[in-house]
Amino acid sequence: MDHFLYKDGALCAEDVPVADIAAQVGTPFYLYSSATLLSHFKAMDDALAWSDHLVCFAMKSLSNQAVLKLLGDAGAGMDVVSAGEYKRARAAGVPGDRIVFSGVGKTREEMRIALEGGIRQFNVESEPEMAALSDVATSLGVVAPITVRVNPDVDAKTHAKIATGKAENKFGIPISRAREVYAMAAALPGLQVVGIDVHIGSQLTDLDPFGLAYDKVAELTETLRADGHTITRLDLGGGLGIPYRAGNDHPPTPAAYGKLVQEKVGHLGCEIEVEPGRLLTGNAGLLVAQVIYVKQGEDRQFLILDAAMNDLIRPAMYEAHHDIIPVVQPAPGVDPVQYDIVGPVCESGDTFAKHRTMTPLQDGALVAFRSAGAYGAVMASEYNSRPLIPEVLVQGDQFAVIRARPTFDEMINRDTIPEWL
Ligand code: LLP
Repeated sequence: MDHFLYKDGALCAEDVPVADIAAQVGTPFYLYSSATLLSHFKAMDDALAWSDHLVCFAMKSLSNQAVLKLLGDAGAGMDVVSAGEYKRARAAGVPGDRIVFSGVGKTREEMRIALEGGIRQFNVESEPEMAALSDVATSLGVVAPITVRVNPDVDAKTHAKIATGKAENKFGIPISRAREVYAMAAALPGLQVVGIDVHIGSQLTDLDPFGLAYDKVAELTETLRADGHTITRLDLGGGLGIPYRAGNDHPPTPAAYGKLVQEKVGHLGCEIEVEPGRLLTGNAGLLVAQVIYVKQGEDRQFLILDAAMNDLIRPAMYEAHHDIIPVVQPAPGVDPVQYDIVGPVCESGDTFAKHRTMTPLQDGALVAFRSAGAYGAVMASEYNSRPLIPEVLVQGDQFAVIRARPTFDEMINRDTIPEWL
């Protein structure tokens, strides 16, 4: 469910025509809907209403502070993976006791920043990290609350680049070694074990892998408790998939996921944490672009947009599909045509879609990529010296630029030419 609908033939974000925003902000730009973000958060929050829980938004998917504030004010916690994310979350007003720190390579400096600023827990991923964290905490005179991220060796059945729960992946501690690793944690002076963490991958469209992983976590909870550890918190990760093909993809609902969680681990009486990113943000964002040229090739037509792979890398990186729709609703009865939809960057990989069936478009037409809220703006770069594109947030009939487009000078002046040149 989202709030990007045609009204009187014009694509709107909530109550604002997308074309009006394009006229003021210029293209390309990212456009987010507050109502959609909040309804997705609420869907996950409601799905876990049976438990004492915290929905920790995986802010790597969309880290603009306006979005963090919106979700933080609604009660969300944050899942952060760097000191930069931690500081952003704090700057947006999220209290430390609602922030969990994930990631396989936290530095001592990052640990210090989070311990001094306040943190709910670290999800620790290796023995050396555990030792380092205990050191840093001891030197600060504090105790770091931790879970250990276990790798359950489960096939998430998703794209290889975003699967994380198989033995071959760099993430977590093999679940087979969990007992010895928890024993080590318990013996370290700067750590306090509070629970178990697991995250098996992203864009999962089937509940079975979650079920397999959570069964293993439930079993491990009992084992660790029998070993004398206090396990009161289960961080079950993110990863629930979203529909990318409107009307055709039907991933499990948050409600079905919440029910599965209850079935698998509800009896353990633990506090539940989840770390959804894409679920909250994916379908809450559009990338709006303009057609620069319609170019006739040997055997096909190219739609050349002003957005490129540096703005939205997902199609080039994961062969990801994004629905691309015209901002002016197609008139009924017009025969669709096929386009290869590309950007202006000098790589053949700068292709958003091949043989895409669309209504015929002219130079200057506006189009919107759907499902672009997650891993869009955050993965953008300035490749080809294309300034990062702006982000806009809509709420009802109002909108605001929440990150401005840098000027060419701002982009260029970040470089310094040494005196001796
Ligand atoms: N928790 C941890 C520890 C993670 O590594 C991730 C995502 C999440 C939560 C959130 O997963 P989500 O709910 O968003 O699926 N750039 C890729 C996705 C990379 C996901 C990385 N980790 C993409 O564009 O598809």
